[in-house]
Amino acid sequence: MAPGSLRRPLPPAQAEALSREILALKRKLNAVLLAHNYQVPEIQDVADFVGDSLGLSQQAAKTSADVIVFCGVHFMAETAKILNPNKRVLLPDKDAGCSLEESCPADQLRAFQATNPNFHTIAYINCSAEVKALSDVICTSGNAEKIVRAAPADRDLLFVPDENLGAWVMEQTGRPMTLWRGNCYAHVEFRRDSLLRLREQFPDAKVVVHPESLREVRELADAICSTEKMIAYCKASPARRFVVVTESGIIHRMQKECPDKEFICAPVFDALRVPTDGCRCSECKFMKMNTLEKLRACLADLRPQIMLRPEILARARQPIERMLEISARPEGNT
Ligand code: 13P
Ligand code: SF4
Repeated sequence: MAPGSLRRPLPPAQAEALSREILALKRKLNAVLLAHNYQVPEIQDVADFVGDSLGLSQQAAKTSADVIVFCGVHFMAETAKILNPNKRVLLPDKDAGCSLEESCPADQLRAFQATNPNFHTIAYINCSAEVKALSDVICTSGNAEKIVRAAPADRDLLFVPDENLGAWVMEQTGRPMTLWRGNCYAHVEFRRDSLLRLREQFPDAKVVVHPESLREVRELADAICSTEKMIAYCKASPARRFVVVTESGIIHRMQKECPDKEFICAPVFDALRVPTDGCRCSECKFMKMNTLEKLRACLADLRPQIMLRPEILARARQPIERMLEISARPEGNT
């Protein structure tokens, strides 16, 4: 473990014993274990599916399991619950939130929507179920461009809550949008100057950047995409070395799926733009709240469970299903 990292890996024997217990409980409950690409390696290794927000929503939409255990953050587990209102959906740590979700309270969105009845609201999936219920369509970083291209031409687009993803999609589509002023606290810490230094140090490396990053950083990218597309890009590229500008949990899958390639985590800086002590990789404190111990406990106790009001479940389902439907359309057919 790099010094300064948020996680303290368990001794291997303890991790193995816990993993065995988790797999046995999972079988007993007919549960499916879905994990985001930022989860700690030992959780990724016991999961049935590891992916980005889009892939995880698609898996949640089609699962036949009785119980869904979501190793990610709260809005992701809520999305799985909205798609499976009659199933038990568990989240190992109920406090695993998201700074983007926090930035967009539903009452503030409702008030802002009231200022323009022609708004068509596109919500990045990193938002609460209440915000989804107020939206016309949901998107993820993996399909945002496609969703915006499919939006009705006669409507004024309101994009919530990530101003950086929204700005990037505007650049891609040329479609103007009103942007909510939210951001991912982990991705906005990447800076152009530190990335330029890395590029000088490793001129052969390709730079892959998540679109939640600032424009000054996106401008230096060879590829800008969701976490799943980043992994696909690194696999397909003939390059041997990559600078990865996103949360460091993704390195586990990259290394596993491309064992002969080298992945360098872009560093983050603190508010004074002074290098932080020890590990300077970006870690999302929310994603790192889930641990193997909490995962075992949630399977054993069947909680924390996601519960939503029936009217929110019903209203939030429509924009998510619209996203899944648009996402499944062949490319170029919006
Ligand atoms: P994706 O994995 O969908 O690219 O999203 C990144 C993220 O920040 C999830 O919270
Ligand atoms: Fe939210 Fe950022 Fe963490 Fe993703 S990485 S869960 S956007 S705070």
